[in-house]
Amino acid sequence: MSLMRWNDEYLTFNQVIDEQHQRLFEIINGIYDMMRVGRGNESIAYALTELTEFTRFHFATEEKFMLDAEFPGTDNHSSEHARLLDEIRELRHRVIDGSAVVTMNEMSFLKDWLLTHFTGPDKGLATHLRRQAEAAIENAAKP
Ligand SMILES: [Fe+2]
Ligand SMILES: [Fe+2]
Repeated sequence: MSLMRWNDEYLTFNQVIDEQHQRLFEIINGIYDMMRVGRGNESIAYALTELTEFTRFHFATEEKFMLDAEFPGTDNHSSEHARLLDEIRELRHRVIDGSAVVTMNEMSFLKDWLLTHFTGPDKGLATHLRRQAEAAIENAAKP
């Protein structure tokens, strides 16, 4: 069974953000499966590199949206991103140098963090972007 099952409650209704969130689910499920079948640290470290890269890409995508939209919650939202990225990087380093293995605790932490973040700050950002786009369309339609 997968660690993270997609549920439409997680949708932010921003297509770009939602597709990237689903990709994060897939990468994390992949790591969980490797852990369950006892794959070695080398394979897991490789998957953690993919997770680090994709998470960085995803956060950069949202941060660009925030800057472009002059989103008022940018600072808080971006520091949440920075904290999680640090945790993932740190875990990756520990797995690579052999001082740690990925445990169920870490996987649960990742899962909980992502779900809380997707349904909180990310939904807030997507709503802001949608309202801004709607307002721009209304203004453009004004005589
Ligand atoms: Fe975010
Ligand atoms: Fe996100």
